[in-house]
Amino acid sequence: MSQKCAIYPGSFDPITNGHLSIVDRALTIFDKLTIAILTNPQKEPLFSVKERIDMIKESLKGSPNVEVDTFGGLLVDYAIEKKANVILRGLRALSDFEYEFQMALMNRKLNREVQSLFLMTDYKWFYISSTIIKEAAGLGGDISGLVPKIVEKRLKEKFRDAKNT
Ligand code: PNS
Repeated sequence: MSQKCAIYPGSFDPITNGHLSIVDRALTIFDKLTIAILTNPQKEPLFSVKERIDMIKESLKGSPNVEVDTFGGLLVDYAIEKKANVILRGLRALSDFEYEFQMALMNRKLNREVQSLFLMTDYKWFYISSTIIKEAAGLGGDISGLVPKIVEKRLKEKFRDAKNT
């Protein structure tokens, strides 16, 4: 029987517990998941791609069915390259919907063989995003319990280094 594979794309700058919850739940549906760090032209990243990959890998220790990768072009081209016909995205509040709908329709226009699939976020992570985590951490806020330990550590280092330069 062929394996069911999905791509979970995003900026993951950095990965949060909300992302990890989507990964866990997706693994109950798919045999294999590829977390793909892609470029969002609307965002200036805080962490390099390598830093983001390292944090994801560290956070995922013990998940053999998850691969972490990066790609510089169109998401649908990447999906075809990986022979995956499902793009998985997490959906939080109403505010996500318009952007996700637009992206799903554009991706469908670009390639009809690739389907977008959405998982609703767990209520515990309803209010968090990488952006709000960075904002809180940058101002010295306590973000423990919202991101993996390695991310908490790396954020502290990043903002401490920024302060000292
Ligand atoms: O986590 P994000 O920032 O919401 O993820 C957005 C991302 C990276 C998935 C999106 O910007 C993307 O797919 N970028 C790759 C380029 C692409 O295919 N753009 C056209 C999609 S409409």
